[in-house]
Amino acid sequence: TILVLDFGSQYTHLITRRLRELNIFSEMLPCTQKIAELKFKPKGIILSGGPYSVYEEGSPHVDPAVFDLNVPILGICYGMQELAYRIGTDNVIAGTHREYGHSNLKAQSVNGHVDRLFEGLEDSMRVWMSHGDKLAKLPEGFHTVATSDNSEYAAIAHGEKLIYGLQFHPEVTHTQNGTALLKNFAVGICHCNQNWTMERFMEEKIADIRRTVGEKGQVLAAVSGGVDSTVAAKLMKEAIGDRFWAVLVNNGVMRLNECEQVQRDLSEALGINLTVIDGAKEFLDGLKGVEDPEKKRKFIGGKFIDFFEAEAIKIEEAAAKDPNRAGKIEFFMQGTLYPDVIESLSFKGPSATIKTHHNVGGLPARMTNGQGLKLIEPLRSLYKDEVRALGRALGIREELVMRHPFPGPGIAVRILGEVTEEKVNIARQADHIFISEIRKAGLYDQISQAYAAVDPSRAVGVMGDKRVYGYIIILRAVTTTDYMTAEAFNFPWDVLQRIMNRIVNEVHGVCRVVYDITSKPPGTIEME
Ligand code: XMP
Repeated sequence: TILVLDFGSQYTHLITRRLRELNIFSEMLPCTQKIAELKFKPKGIILSGGPYSVYEEGSPHVDPAVFDLNVPILGICYGMQELAYRIGTDNVIAGTHREYGHSNLKAQSVNGHVDRLFEGLEDSMRVWMSHGDKLAKLPEGFHTVATSDNSEYAAIAHGEKLIYGLQFHPEVTHTQNGTALLKNFAVGICHCNQNWTMERFMEEKIADIRRTVGEKGQVLAAVSGGVDSTVAAKLMKEAIGDRFWAVLVNNGVMRLNECEQVQRDLSEALGINLTVIDGAKEFLDGLKGVEDPEKKRKFIGGKFIDFFEAEAIKIEEAAAKDPNRAGKIEFFMQGTLYPDVIESLSFKGPSATIKTHHNVGGLPARMTNGQGLKLIEPLRSLYKDEVRALGRALGIREELVMRHPFPGPGIAVRILGEVTEEKVNIARQADHIFISEIRKAGLYDQISQAYAAVDPSRAVGVMGDKRVYGYIIILRAVTTTDYMTAEAFNFPWDVLQRIMNRIVNEVHGVCRVVYDITSKPPGTIEME
């Protein structure tokens, strides 16, 4: 493992990302991490960049114990200044202007050899800089291993110890050979093996879950049929079999035949011990007259917890009566992913409180504090594409592994204004046609998320020589990598026309179809 200590740079998580792409396991922790409290012994440490000045009061500093671990250290940007500053406070000065953008890097040869860090790379490469402060001079014991247009100290190395500093960011794709450079550090200098694979992760995780849960322990989870909860559930099933209890609540605003489909996928195909609770009527009754999007969300979230808790109690009681079971459910499993963890682990500055994330609105707090359940998050070290890869390794079918995300409040946030059964049915049918045609056209995997929404304003149409009023269907399809920003998908016109044709002809009560081309921002991906 390479330990990445985060000083708050927006690029930090890319370091772990690049290393994992090299099949080297890497974990990120805040720069304030106490080395004595580490649960593993890293083979190398990377100090990330950050938005601070080392000599500013309250600026973050690494636990001095990192130097006693006797493993190679690489400081990037702020991380390099931190290394230099520790050796002598006059080694770092404030830059007169921020250097931001490309720079040309030249590796320095000593006796005809470049440093191991640059081995096998071109002597000259374009690198990405983003820094204010810089080194004023070489810290004692260091020498220059690469220079750039603006800096004599673009890369430095200690003469005896395996300590390196880079002024530029090897983790961003704008830096040519950046990944190769990180590989030189991790493999060439730290001697990491490139054997981190999904199959291995899966086996280790299963063993890890068994250790945590014990011989008799039981685990409860809410599942949705989405990628994260499905993969997490399958992993639990592999680890502890029927001592894992999955609960699916039908909230009345799932997609066409979705509840039955999830039941088939999880229960029949994957063998997961699943209970389905049908709350559709109660949810739809409660949504009557509710127009405000936030109120819809709150109602659905709250009702969901009521249903889930009631079921948890039933499962508990059944388990207590079963002589083969230990009785008590001690754990609550949640499909939290690494980006949420990074969000809560990133170093947010000396005074900022570290944010705790919440995946399923409000659920863990009440379940874990109120009922004393311990949280298990088997996917918390994985990125989304890694979760998909794990899903494949677990034998989950491709279509499920590649599913677009779907919001907890479901179709309710895709019907503008009040949710009624009629509008839910219209949204379902239109959405089903839209997604089926996207699949038929072979576009599903090029789109990050797509759905049909209902605008209940009545538009005029002519059908069979008669004037009709019907709802407007809004089609939305976006591409995005992180769901924070998104672009409307550039649809082939003929596919859109085919979809329009089918929707107006097949979905009763609709007389118009529009395609939403708004990007995010200013739009959001969901309609409400
Ligand atoms: P927005 O609409 O904020 O959506 O651009 C970004 C991503 O988040 C999903 N989303 C939700 N997921 N509960 C969820 O579980 C919600 O209330 C919710 N609102 C939005 C949305 O589908 C998209 O993937």
